[in-house]
Amino acid sequence: MGGGARQVTDGRSKVSAAPDGVLVRAAVEADLAAIHAIECESFGDPWALEGFRDLLDHPRAKMEVAVNADGELMGYAVAWYVADESEIANIAVAPSARLKGVGALLLDRILRAAAEFGAQTVFLEVRESNEAARKLYEARGFEVAGKRTKYYRKPDEDALIMRRKL
Ligand SMILES: CC(C)(COP(=O)(O)OP(=O)(O)OC[C@H]1O[C@@H](n2cnc3c(N)ncnc32)[C@H](O)[C@@H]1OP(=O)(O)O)[C@@H](O)C(=O)NCCC(=O)NCCS
Repeated sequence: MGGGARQVTDGRSKVSAAPDGVLVRAAVEADLAAIHAIECESFGDPWALEGFRDLLDHPRAKMEVAVNADGELMGYAVAWYVADESEIANIAVAPSARLKGVGALLLDRILRAAAEFGAQTVFLEVRESNEAARKLYEARGFEVAGKRTKYYRKPDEDALIMRRKL
């Protein structure tokens, strides 16, 4: 783990203590512009701003943000909760805030929320070449469960399906 995050274990995988001063809370309307700015810096095929807005009141989605002590938005995560499954639909950290444990903090929050919701399994898709994200997920107990050929655009690439049982 780079930067300020400390690690403990839950017996199955790593869990992050918060990097100093960073907290995770539910996203609100006022966060949308900063979320979308990070989205555009992070992905070649970013979600539209309206897509994030629609999630604010969605009964089966949760959008969480990580903010620093000055209230600046450092990252966000979106997850779906349906029946006994949860899916991580999006997670990104501002380029200047990476490798400090923020992504792990957001992921740990989603895993806790999924367990509280009653999910048995958490899924996600990740570009095969996305080493940073794959390291993050593997460190949290996710395993490759399959592949979707040419799933991504800009650029075209296969998706790995990763799964963690709770
Ligand atoms: C993937 C991403 C969210 C990781 O966020 P982050 O805050 O930098 O990650 P963390 O500092 O919490 O690191 C978590 C773990 O991943 C590893 N990791 C993160 N980035 C890494 C990199 N570039 N290379 C190697 N390992 C990396 C860390 O070393 C750490 O491992 P450890 O727990 O074994 O020490 C961030 O790189 C990002 O926003 N990328 C662009 C968007 C994206 O690809 N999202 C995922 C879509 S599936």
